[in-house]
Amino acid sequence: MENVYIETYGCQMNFADSEVVGAILREAGYGLVQDLDAADFVLINTCAIRDNAEQRVRHRVRELRAAQNRQAGLRIGVLGCMAERLQSRLMVEEENVSFVCGPDAYRRLPSLLAQVREGQKGAEVELSTTETYADIEPVRLASNGVSAYISIMRGCQNYCTYCVVPYTRGRERSREPQTIVAEARALFEQGYREVTLLGQNVNSYRWETDGGRTAVDFAELMRQVAEVSPLLRVRFATSHPKDLSDRLIEVMASYANICRSIHLPVQSGSNRMLKAMNRRYTVEWYLGRVEAIRSRMPDCSLTTDVIAGFCGETEADHEATLALFRQVGYDYAYMFKYSEREGTFAQRHLKDDVPDEVKTRRLNEIIALQGEIALANNRREVGRDYEVLVEGESHRSRERLFGRTGQGKVVVFDRGDAAVGSYRRVRVEDCTAATLLGRLIDR
Ligand code: SAH
Ligand code: SF4
Ligand code: F3S
Repeated sequence: MENVYIETYGCQMNFADSEVVGAILREAGYGLVQDLDAADFVLINTCAIRDNAEQRVRHRVRELRAAQNRQAGLRIGVLGCMAERLQSRLMVEEENVSFVCGPDAYRRLPSLLAQVREGQKGAEVELSTTETYADIEPVRLASNGVSAYISIMRGCQNYCTYCVVPYTRGRERSREPQTIVAEARALFEQGYREVTLLGQNVNSYRWETDGGRTAVDFAELMRQVAEVSPLLRVRFATSHPKDLSDRLIEVMASYANICRSIHLPVQSGSNRMLKAMNRRYTVEWYLGRVEAIRSRMPDCSLTTDVIAGFCGETEADHEATLALFRQVGYDYAYMFKYSEREGTFAQRHLKDDVPDEVKTRRLNEIIALQGEIALANNRREVGRDYEVLVEGESHRSRERLFGRTGQGKVVVFDRGDAAVGSYRRVRVEDCTAATLLGRLIDR
């Protein structure tokens, strides 16, 4: 039997896709190994979102030459968004790569690997308007047996002007709801206690039947998944502010097992920038959504993504982002410097004119502010009790476990008699900006 070693970079969608790839290859008779030395094929599932994401992968590919010198016959394949973006060019630029396979072509991996075994190179990069891998039961690769991803839709056609995803992931398409609910139910029966519904734009999910007369939208899908069991926590990522409906807020508020946590990428606090980014909402509209969430679910946690130094960004625009961060008070933020991507609207029509040192300074200001906000938010949690789903051992000490509150905050506590995969009440006693520290209080 030949063995495959899969390495994954990028977003949660990519991690979910690697689990589909694992299932396809296992079905085709390959072994999945955690150890590079035992592998015949290394598959690197890649991200193209920013230049540094790609540089990291290229570095890794070059580093793997040493392994190839040790293990004759070890072949490298690149999957995911970089494969889609660069196609065969990648095999010319990185000579030790034997094949590339884009995100909609994973069913062709067995034939691609067979071809590579014959000594040829290969590329499968066709995008699809229908592929959702709905019938494939993912191999839960790096799973803790407690939480799992369920991919519910693929692609994105929002065309934010800075973003490469519409080019690497293709058109938006949703997966049949019955298959999603069935997957959630099967996971629950296997002992999983949390599922995260995934898509690049998860809340524009829509499944139509009878020529559009009946439809399941994201709010309805959430309701159906939440109905699987009150003991199954349901999360989702990532939602676009423009598609965050009142009905979704209503459904979230009416199920205790739908987590009170929304990742709502804002990108900028300046209307001028939002327009240049083609985000299709204004700061006022965004704040209106935040207000709607908080008035219905006062304890709901909000997290975001932001880009510093997009084309034409002035100090005033940057100040507006800082002001928005203060106003919303996010619990966590993913913060990036703008990175120009080939083929995007911004690369073709806008000037990447903010000097790198200015981008860095602005990014650092956002990071510093967000650190203060997160710490202040966490300090307010001290003294509160939470129902925590125990997810595993703390990375620092085997004597301690960690879990998450319904708001998605990590709590570390002494293990006591708590079991991984159970719900326990924990009182928060201390915190850092990133973590809550607590104590078991229920028995
Ligand atoms: N679909 C999600 C986000 C996908 S990418 C959404 O629209 O919310 C994750 C984040 O990467 C984006 O939210 C954005 O903040 C960031 N990003 C995307 N393209 C980028 C670029 N060219 N430079 C810097 N950051 C970028
Ligand atoms: Fe990219 Fe915008 Fe689509 Fe998100 S919504 S993946 S940022 S184009
Ligand atoms: Fe990266 Fe592709 Fe995800 S570009 S962020 S891996 S969709």
